[in-house]
This record gives sequence, structure tokens and C-alpha cells, in this order.
Amino acid sequence: MPEMETAVRPVPRARVQAMKEYHPPLGGRDSLRLDFNENTVACSPAVREVLGRISMGDLTRYPEREPIEAVVAAHLGLAAPQVALTNGVDEAIHVLFEAFLEAGDELLLPVPTYTMYEVYASATDARVIAVQAADDLQFPFETLLASITPRTKIIAIANPNSPSGTVATREQILELARRTPHALVLVDEAYFHFHGETVIDLVGTVPNLIVARTFSKAYGLAGLRVGVLAGPVEHMRWIRRVLSPYSVNSLALACLPAALADTAYLDWYVGEVLAARTEFEQALDAAGVRRWPSSANFVLVEIGAPHAEFVRRMHAAGVLVRDRSNDPGCDGRVRITIGTREQMQQAVVALNETMAALHDGQSHGGREVR
Ligand SMILES: Cc1ncc(COP(=O)(O)O)c(C=O)c1O
Repeated sequence: MPEMETAVRPVPRARVQAMKEYHPPLGGRDSLRLDFNENTVACSPAVREVLGRISMGDLTRYPEREPIEAVVAAHLGLAAPQVALTNGVDEAIHVLFEAFLEAGDELLLPVPTYTMYEVYASATDARVIAVQAADDLQFPFETLLASITPRTKIIAIANPNSPSGTVATREQILELARRTPHALVLVDEAYFHFHGETVIDLVGTVPNLIVARTFSKAYGLAGLRVGVLAGPVEHMRWIRRVLSPYSVNSLALACLPAALADTAYLDWYVGEVLAARTEFEQALDAAGVRRWPSSANFVLVEIGAPHAEFVRRMHAAGVLVRDRSNDPGCDGRVRITIGTREQMQQAVVALNETMAALHDGQSHGGREVR
């Protein structure tokens, strides 16, 4: 049915009207998925067993989050009131910003970084203060310190960061927290397992530190949508006021204890990715492709002007990678997720073919070769 035109219609808030559309390319992903930093294999088989035992009757009930929150809290060495489960880290970011950011507040955001911080911040009445990293994409610690004002309300740090793969040190995070007692420091450890360093042990000790973790990456549960937000009880109480008690679904809740318990699976997957990352980095070096050092399950590479053509050709060769050219300071750069060694060998074949084709294209007067 055609939509009706009316003279009077409800309009969204001005901030929402000013928001850019964000539509990640999630369609038609049948190839090797090296584009969203997911686990490229599977979750633990123990999770699969739990899913198989879920009955139709189980689905009729609203999910009960608290018992599983206690399990996750214990796993992280925290008390249950310090931990909230969320519908992915995305919801964690959303509720944190909604609970704390108001008109006049500033969100300090080192960029380039994960897109959703800006998306959720721009729906609030706060200002986003983007702090650009230098060309080496190292954590812009000094510039961040210099950008702190009395209006700074949240500093959002992805650690390791995406799409760069670079990290902030524990000392830098602590110093930022010390210098901003009037603000929260959010440390998003979505890629923690590939880095191995964390500040989650400081939750509750550092009064303005909030840490996020996800089950979407190393655990291989991106489709279930589960994240964790951890912080001092006082702040978590406010966050729970705006967090839906039902936003983590019952399938996800049922699976978490099994996912957490199967440390052998997690260790295998992380070990595989780290070995594959080393081999892939060597292949990039051999192909003369500039790359940034990564502490996560992806590598950012410099392709330059033919970045879109590179992504298209990699896709044609069966490998999905993600163009990050629109990220601040990332023109010509592409992010490649690291999977298993075998998958990355396939990626290297596609990469070498693609680079050769792009090179041929350039030596034939820069025409696009199809
Ligand atoms: C830094 C960072 N945080 C959070 C997320 C999203 O996590 P989730 O799937 O738990 O919403 C991503 C996903 O790419 C990410 O890169």
C-alpha cells in the first residue's frame, strides 16, 4: 500500500534528524567472513548442546537475567551488583550514554574507533569531542589528556581499538581516570581475549571505571547478542534504571554458563587466531602491504586509492573484508579479520591475486580491470 502524505506529522528530535544513517553491509555474507571481526568458525560445542535441549515451553517464559549475571560476575571476579548483562556491548554503550550524557556534556572519543559510540552519542544532547590519532594510529593519550574539560562526562576507549588494533596501556587508562573524577572512563574490551591485558580487576577500586566485554568475538556468539557492562555498584544502579530487564534473551542466557565453562575451546580458538595473525602479517609484509601492529583478531592495511576495487576483488575471490576508508584518518585503509590458519591461507591467495591485478591495472594506465 502506498504511504499516505499528510500535512501534519510527528517529527523526531532534532538530534535524531541530524544523525547519519548507519547501515553495515550485512547482506549476502556467504564467502569467508573477514569483515566483521566475528569468530570465523563456531561457538563451543557445549553451547550447541544447550541449544538442543531448549524446549518450546522454555520459549514461552520471559528471560530471567539475574542468576546468569551472578555466574558471569563470578567468572570475572566481581560481585553480581557490579555486573549487568546487555544485548551486546552495543546496548551497553547505548544505556550508559543514555544514563549519563546530557546537554552540555562532552564525550571524549579517540578516533578512528568503533562506529557505535558516535551513533549513540549523537542521539543524546551531548557533544562528541573526537580526538584524532596520528598516522601511526597509536592511542592518542597526550591529546586526550589535553582535551579534558570540566564538561567531559565520558571517555570511551576501545581496547584493543577497532579498526586500528592498537592499544592503550593500563597506566594510561588509570591516568585518564585520575584526571577525570567528574567523568566515567569506559574501557570496551570486546577484543580482550586476543590481547590478554585487562583492567576489569580494577572495577570497583577505580571509582569512575566502567568495563565492557562481549560474547560476540572470541566466544563466537555474535548472533545471540550478549555483552557485559561492569562498574562500581553506584553507577550500575543508574544504568539498570534505563536497561530493560528483558533485553538479553533466554537462549543467550541459557548458553552463557556453557560458553564460559569451555575454556579449552576458547583457548584453542584464540591460539589459532594468534598463530594465523602472525602468518598473515608475514604474508602482508612479503606482499609489500603496509599494516598496523594489531593486538586483536584483525589487521588494518593500507591499500590506497584502489581500496574499493580491492574489497570488490577480494569478494570476487571469495573473501569478505571491510573498507574503513570513511573512518577518520583511514582513507585507503581496509580491515581484515583474522580467522584460522587455513582460512588465512585462502585469504593470502586472494590477497596476492588481488594485489597483482591492481598492480596490472595501474601499469596499464590505471584503468579498472574487470
Ligand atoms: C570495539 C567494539 N565494541 C563492541 C562491539 C560490538 O559488540 P557486540 O556484538 O557485543 O554488540 C564491536 C563490534 O565490532 C567492537 O568492535
